[in-house]
Amino acid sequence: MERITSSDKILLLGKSDFLVDVSKGVFHTNHGTINLSKLVGKKFGVKIKSSKGETFSVLRPNINDFLERRLARLPQIVSLKDCSLIAGMTGMSSGYRVIEAGTGSAFLTTFMANLVRPGGKVYTYELRSDFFKSAKKNIDDSGLSEWVEAKNRDISKGFREKDADVVVLDMIGAEKIVPKAHKAMKSGGFLVVYSPYIEQVKSVSAAIGMESFTGVRTIECLVRDYKITRDFSRPNTTMLAHTGYVTFARKI
Ligand SMILES: C[S@@+](CC[C@H](N)C(=O)[O-])C[C@H]1O[C@@H](n2cnc3c(N)ncnc32)[C@H](O)[C@@H]1O
Repeated sequence: MERITSSDKILLLGKSDFLVDVSKGVFHTNHGTINLSKLVGKKFGVKIKSSKGETFSVLRPNINDFLERRLARLPQIVSLKDCSLIAGMTGMSSGYRVIEAGTGSAFLTTFMANLVRPGGKVYTYELRSDFFKSAKKNIDDSGLSEWVEAKNRDISKGFREKDADVVVLDMIGAEKIVPKAHKAMKSGGFLVVYSPYIEQVKSVSAAIGMESFTGVRTIECLVRDYKITRDFSRPNTTMLAHTGYVTFARKI
């Protein structure tokens, strides 16, 4: 069982959940103050009480804990369900070279960096300097910056990377980038375009049709949770109805 060090990030699970740096020393919550320095040397899984007597379990956070609890969001992110779809459909794994635009909040960037390590790289482009700065902070905070090359650059001006396993576009005007993406990809590589609107899917599909791609498909991923009780069980009344459409195409 691993022991907690002063340079670790930890997940505190109790009445509320928090992802904090042990190096903070003391952490203030609505449920009381937690003395983090007392945790150094203890095993992950230990429990700690706040000054108000609330108990928190101390766990090692994974990438999803980081993305959902800590990553600062500016533009709209690609949600975890759609990130998972992208990873599954492209077989993304260690060693993959990925080109991405735009970086936005770097939610998808960080998710992919965790998959392509070691040996791979996510080359990500962001047009706006304010979004770029915030995204860069998120990438550094994730501890995955070794597997990301982030550029504050308009991808429509072109990109130098070649032999990409995957090119992911989540930006307005993605259809104009499709020919350049095709050139930058390995044969067998995947183009992925995330589009909030169906009109974008139509423009992107037309652009894909002009290049040599196969296996073109557009998917909407709907996730429905269930309410399970001892008596009657059924789907939850509400769900996230729409995020975006994901279009995939494979270069031949
Ligand atoms: C919806 S956000 C991307 C969110 C990101 N996928 C995430 O999960 O955090 C779209 C981003 O594309 C950027 N963008 C738009 N056109 C671009 C271009 N030509 N080159 C690079 N970035 C661009 C925008 O500034 C914006 O930050």
